[in-house]
Amino acid sequence: MIIALDGPAASGKGTLARRLAAHFDLPHLDSGLLYRAVGMAIAKDGGDPSDEAAATAAARRFTTDWLSDPDLRGDAAARAASQVAAMPGVREALVDFQRAFVGQPGGAVVDGRDIGTVIAPDADAKLFVTATVEVRADRRFKELLGRGQAAIYPDVLRDLRERDERDSRRTVAPLVPAEDAYVLDTSALDAEQAFEAALAFVVGKTGRR
Ligand code: CDP
Repeated sequence: MIIALDGPAASGKGTLARRLAAHFDLPHLDSGLLYRAVGMAIAKDGGDPSDEAAATAAARRFTTDWLSDPDLRGDAAARAASQVAAMPGVREALVDFQRAFVGQPGGAVVDGRDIGTVIAPDADAKLFVTATVEVRADRRFKELLGRGQAAIYPDVLRDLRERDERDSRRTVAPLVPAEDAYVLDTSALDAEQAFEAALAFVVGKTGRR
């Protein structure tokens, strides 16, 4: 069983993906970490994440041990990720890894921006998880504070708007719901309600409980 979750930053897709994976006992991949890892690999070498040749070369060198870097969760990594993620060569270099993950016996749960459209167009259940940008900024702000990181709400909001814009406008794998995706707006839902709604959709779609 393959479950694809896409959506903008801080929409709650990661939390939902983890919970669905636990519920169905499937492996989970947060594909955003791959782009974050590539962005950070360049930044840590003193390079510029807007340098397409450097980013593509880094993506071709990607190995799974890059995913254990704790700095990947930070905002600097997110910004670098959204820059390198707009580059066709970077996306191309990361496709095989993601398709292999999706193709594991038994299936997988993968979250990102283009999972239902590009990586796993044949997924059994596709969700497009969204929320208003203000609600998402509020969630991300609290998440950053909870992790002990300094955060200023207007900056978080501006950062999300910029990334939404960049992720939606890019020509390669833009952030759009797959035609057959269930659009789940979590603006007025807490984590539990969002999970119940997502689970009900997946059960209805796949017949698995
Ligand atoms: O939840 P948040 O957007 O903060 O983080 P993420 O999901 O780790 O994504 C970071 C950035 O990676 C996004 O802004 C996208 O530009 C990019 N990304 C992508 O292009 N395709 C994916 N499948 C996943 C992430």
